[in-house]
Amino acid sequence: MDRDTLRQVEDWIKFFQELGFEEFYRRPQRVTAASSSPKAAATPLSASPNAASGPTFGNKPLGASEASRGPAKPASPAEPPITAAPQFTASRPVASQSLSLFEAPPAPAAPAKRETLEEIQTDLGDCHRCKLSKGRKHIVFGQGNPRAELVFVGEGPGADEDEQGLPFVGRAGQLLNRMLQLIQIRREDVYICNVVKCRPPGNRTPEQDEIATCSPFLFRQIQSIQPRLVCCLGSPAARTVLGIKEGITKIHGQFFDYGTGKALATVHPAYVLRNPREEVILRDDFEKIRQFLQSA
Ligand code: URA
Repeated sequence: MDRDTLRQVEDWIKFFQELGFEEFYRRPQRVTAASSSPKAAATPLSASPNAASGPTFGNKPLGASEASRGPAKPASPAEPPITAAPQFTASRPVASQSLSLFEAPPAPAAPAKRETLEEIQTDLGDCHRCKLSKGRKHIVFGQGNPRAELVFVGEGPGADEDEQGLPFVGRAGQLLNRMLQLIQIRREDVYICNVVKCRPPGNRTPEQDEIATCSPFLFRQIQSIQPRLVCCLGSPAARTVLGIKEGITKIHGQFFDYGTGKALATVHPAYVLRNPREEVILRDDFEKIRQFLQSA
């Protein structure tokens, strides 16, 4: 990890500690169907066999992206970490039911202060923290209900989003709208945002330094909204939010403990636009979302 990345990670940890989180960077715990009810308590850190192993950080690069921009790119072990995302512990025993790919997060911590989205946006300002600012027309902060039960996290704005300053307003957005209609959820009732808030040039996958710089704002947005469910659209979102190493086709549709709620990942709508036969994955996962949100 280079010095700049390390400094960003340290700032990041400090920021979350100030919010009242402790060891927030531990890997979320996958939850089984039986415990995926929103009432199920998050597995406490102490219950994790690796709980004492100390904080670890992601060393996994961004890999293949099912998202809108650019061809899928295989994961390359030579690439640097994308963020302070928690590290996959390959040697960890995998229980048959709990499939503990991830370390459990701490019991949901009450943050010292719940920021508003407006405060976060003000802090973001006319951001020039990373190189993506050079080519953007608009920052795409996010859109929707600040008290949404469901938050979608995409990869980053495309051309239409950059033009309008709003997330998922292009073709991928139309497919997302269709999926929402299918499960009878109104778009205005959810919150939609992205891992990076400025359009990567040529719609390429966001680079690790860009994600490291921008993702703290995403995490603050999620912390502000405190949704019951975060749905990661595509690999970059899943890697950033869940710190996963596995491909999305392996872990899609599975519920993970995440903060005070749950998170799941599914394929990016843009991937489905390019691979229409895969729409079934999106539909199935949206049906799981519907069932989850309908459960008391
Ligand atoms: N793709 C994304 O990942 N995000 C958007 O906002 C639009 C397309």
